[in-house]
Amino acid sequence: VENLAKSFSSLYYAFSLYPSTHPKIRAGIDRIEIILKHFFHESDRITIGLIGTDLLFLAGELQRLEGSAEGLKHIFQMNGIEKIVLYSGITREEIADFFKSFAKTKEDMPGHPGRTFHRDSRWPHIVPGNFSSETVVENFEDGSGSLRPEEIRIVREYLEDARELVDQIRTNRLMEYRLAKEIVDHILNGIILENHAIPLVSQIKEHDEYTFTHMMNVSTLCLATGRVLGFPPPQLRELGIASLLHDTGKIRIPSEILQKKDRLTEDEFGIVKRHPAEGAAMLTQFRDIPDLAPIVAFEHHIRYDGSGYPVTYKDRRPHLCSRITAIADIFDALRTIRSYRSETSKVETFQIMSGIPLDPFLLNLFARISNLHPVGEMVRLDTGEIGIVHEINPRNPYRPRVKLLYDAENNKLNDQRIVNLTNFHKRENRYLRSIDSILTEEETRKLP
Ligand SMILES: [Fe+2]
Ligand SMILES: [Fe+2]
Repeated sequence: VENLAKSFSSLYYAFSLYPSTHPKIRAGIDRIEIILKHFFHESDRITIGLIGTDLLFLAGELQRLEGSAEGLKHIFQMNGIEKIVLYSGITREEIADFFKSFAKTKEDMPGHPGRTFHRDSRWPHIVPGNFSSETVVENFEDGSGSLRPEEIRIVREYLEDARELVDQIRTNRLMEYRLAKEIVDHILNGIILENHAIPLVSQIKEHDEYTFTHMMNVSTLCLATGRVLGFPPPQLRELGIASLLHDTGKIRIPSEILQKKDRLTEDEFGIVKRHPAEGAAMLTQFRDIPDLAPIVAFEHHIRYDGSGYPVTYKDRRPHLCSRITAIADIFDALRTIRSYRSETSKVETFQIMSGIPLDPFLLNLFARISNLHPVGEMVRLDTGEIGIVHEINPRNPYRPRVKLLYDAENNKLNDQRIVNLTNFHKRENRYLRSIDSILTEEETRKLP
């Protein structure tokens, strides 16, 4: 991998310094040809991509280029490209033509820093470009026409699960029912269009049912977030598919580890930690899956401050869609009842999440979408008073306006005041009132 990166940048610079007939150029092409041949034994497609400031190399498996790749990184940045995909069948002539034009664009287009170096029929096996794909969603009536019978079966199963999910969302009042339904339809359309994702999703379902359900929930939550953020439909679709496939790498984790009830050993956790990179590598093998999918798979456990795993480097900020997925991922994991843990309440979930370095803006938005404190909810305040949520505060979902019903001694109040939980006691540096807990139905019934 390192040799390939080095050979790429030296050929690029050779073309900008010497005439095409120079022996250095011939030697450079020779070297690239040999290295590529080696990689094409394993995979018919090689992607070299710049994600953030990381240069990643994907051919069968995913690798990060460090140190030696600075030159190539610079070339990518200078030319405004994020990735180069190489397909097997590539010829010397294509390599020569490509690098010749690649190295020349700098002189040809002075003062155009934002330009992109495009694909060209002269080098059909080399596709430079950007990660945000420009694929247009076609209108389709029934995508099932092009599916094989086993694929149709999976789509049906998927549909059933999706309906169940919508019901679950309705009963948990997680979000508006209509929105949820629309979102599930969105994913479904996406998955039918993306024929290639279907066998993958079915493999996951067979490997670990929980992972499958989890991936669907996460996708739904991400789409809700994306919709509120105003993503246009093609981007929404990409977000839906990318978040759906975020845990694809778990196929490679033995199910004994995935389903283990006790604490994982350090070795086992090490295996679990490989799933983002493994998933990214798997997803790049599918031509029809959007490029966003391997990015989200790779980054969904990298925190807002660059911590988490895989360990990259400090201050690395993941892609917006990875940040959305990270939040939905943790939310769903905490909310799901597992054999070794009882349910975590929504309030507790958000308490835990606010202690994790997640994108603060997105987390706030997410609390709003998930209806953290819906109107009509009975809450106990830290003052001991009991009230009912009267109005949601769109700026701060943790601090709605509350109508006070009982005082701290459980006496019914005659004058039912509406208080704003954002009221702050400056001198004592604290909020006047905060929500302490949500009253259960039983507690509500027992009130005088
Ligand atoms: Fe994960
Ligand atoms: Fe996950």
